Amino acid sequence: MSGAVEPLNCRAGRHVSLILRDIWYRYPRSDRPLLQGVELEVPTGASVAVMAPSGVGKSTLLSIAGLLIKPDRGTVQIDGKDVGPKDGKRLLGDRVSWVLQSVNLLPHRTVLDNTILPSRAHGSSLDSSRATATMLLTQLGLSHRLTSLARTLSGGEAQRAGVARALVTSPSVLIADEPTANLDRDTAQEVATALLSAAQNTSVLLATHDPMIAEMADTVVHLAPARGD
Ligand SMILES: Nc1ncnc2c1ncn2[C@@H]1O[C@H](COP(=O)(O)OP(=O)(O)OP(=O)(O)O)[C@@H](O)[C@H]1O
Ligand SMILES: [Mg+2]
Repeated sequence: MSGAVEPLNCRAGRHVSLILRDIWYRYPRSDRPLLQGVELEVPTGASVAVMAPSGVGKSTLLSIAGLLIKPDRGTVQIDGKDVGPKDGKRLLGDRVSWVLQSVNLLPHRTVLDNTILPSRAHGSSLDSSRATATMLLTQLGLSHRLTSLARTLSGGEAQRAGVARALVTSPSVLIADEPTANLDRDTAQEVATALLSAAQNTSVLLATHDPMIAEMADTVVHLAPARGD
């Protein structure tokens, strides 16, 4: 096969939507880098859970992967392309979405209205946004809640609506930082199951303290504490 070059984002025939290469990051005023040469790959449609004790840097790593913080050194690749200094704004909320511990739905808007917001903000028509949101909310077990005001949802329902909102643009990458940390054990398991199954075509990078949730991901990686000098 002379002349054929395997695309950078393809490993053994499998596409890799999110690649972190040699990521270094030090918070201003900190005496040493928190992240020291972190390497991570999330194949397309796969899920990776990051585990580590509190304070080791899970949220910081996710903030870099999720384009909220620029690393001091190293590269983030989304869909095979290096993310440049000006790409974050364009990709965020569209190709790269977030689910957080607290979901922050607009309380006085309906579940459907909340869910379509990112898709409308990125230029999709009202009809297609509603169709995609309805499909996702149904898949996430909220078909009976489409017209409910968000403030009337239970914690687990709100979190599932947050997952639908994050997936409505069909992102390549979903970053989920402790998405089940505010929920009781059964609800946490239910929400994690719903998230991973709704995100089947999206690469999921998840941070969690909870081994039960981590084990539901395809791969679990342990982030090591930074070495001192
Ligand atoms: N904005 C900031 N400025 C300075 N230091 C920060 C900032 N955010 C986090 N840190 C420090 O970086 C370290 C890692 O924080 P981070 O939130 O990434 O950890 P974590 O593994 O997500 O912890 P947790 O499990 O408690 O969520 C901590 O020591 C924290 O105090
Ligand atoms: Mg954290």
